[in-house]
Amino acid sequence: MTAKIIDGKAFAAGLRERIAEHVARLKSEHGITPGLAVIIVGHDPASQVYVNNKARQTKEVGMNSFKYELPEDVSEDEVLALIEELNNRDDVNGILCQLPVPKHIDENKIINALSPAKDVDCFSPENVGKVAIGLPGPVPCTPLGSLMLLRDELGDLSGKNAVVIGRSNLVGKPMGALLLRDSATVTIAHSRTQDLPAICAAADIIVAAVGRPEMVKGDWIKPGATVIDVGINRVNAPEKGEGKTKLVGDVEYSEAAKVAGAITPVPGGVGPMTIACLLANTVTTACLANG
Ligand code: GUN
Repeated sequence: MTAKIIDGKAFAAGLRERIAEHVARLKSEHGITPGLAVIIVGHDPASQVYVNNKARQTKEVGMNSFKYELPEDVSEDEVLALIEELNNRDDVNGILCQLPVPKHIDENKIINALSPAKDVDCFSPENVGKVAIGLPGPVPCTPLGSLMLLRDELGDLSGKNAVVIGRSNLVGKPMGALLLRDSATVTIAHSRTQDLPAICAAADIIVAAVGRPEMVKGDWIKPGATVIDVGINRVNAPEKGEGKTKLVGDVEYSEAAKVAGAITPVPGGVGPMTIACLLANTVTTACLANG
């Protein structure tokens, strides 16, 4: 068997088109233009790329983008004051502070300062709780994007055996909550889990979110299973030349693709869905703020 490759890049492009249509209707019928503010502290090159992509795609779907680039040595109080100002602005519906922030700034204080009504990353305990009990609000972007790909591939997830590998607050735990909301039978595996290959062997769905390159082996996968690889790991690639690197997921892709029914590639799978879902969350918070 050769797995179907799930094209997250194409799916994300389609989702952005639907978001753009929604934004156009909000403008023409309700006079609302959703706005997303992105804060970046310091000059980390990878964070700069992420933030620039977020700002560009925000504008492409017709929303307002506000970018705040703060110097590496900005004080914690100044960042908190900016968040407070943005919390109170009617033209800002979503606020994202790109992580990591420099060590002298307490990440938890940033998260707690964000108004839950504008927390488009879904970091706040209030929003995490809403996800768990199924109330409307923002949903963590990477799990939401993964869920959309799974629903598109499989339709109804009810009764499917889903194994989520990884228990992070950002991906593993909310992924489990979303799958449970869709009536899947969910196992969340982690570093202390015993006999992970046996657990994976019973899975109709595997979501790998451990952050360890190619940890999930092809022979762990049940033939025909759907595999969502959330990992983005940069590893050395001597086959490409000295000093070269490449991106790999948490799944041993070449072997897994021989067994799985469908699989997301890295790059081009879940990654593009994350920003598209950030835009979707900003539309959600704009709609909720305007009744
Ligand atoms: N840094 C890396 N990924 C993310 C993300 O999803 N949100 C924020 N705020 N920072 C990040």
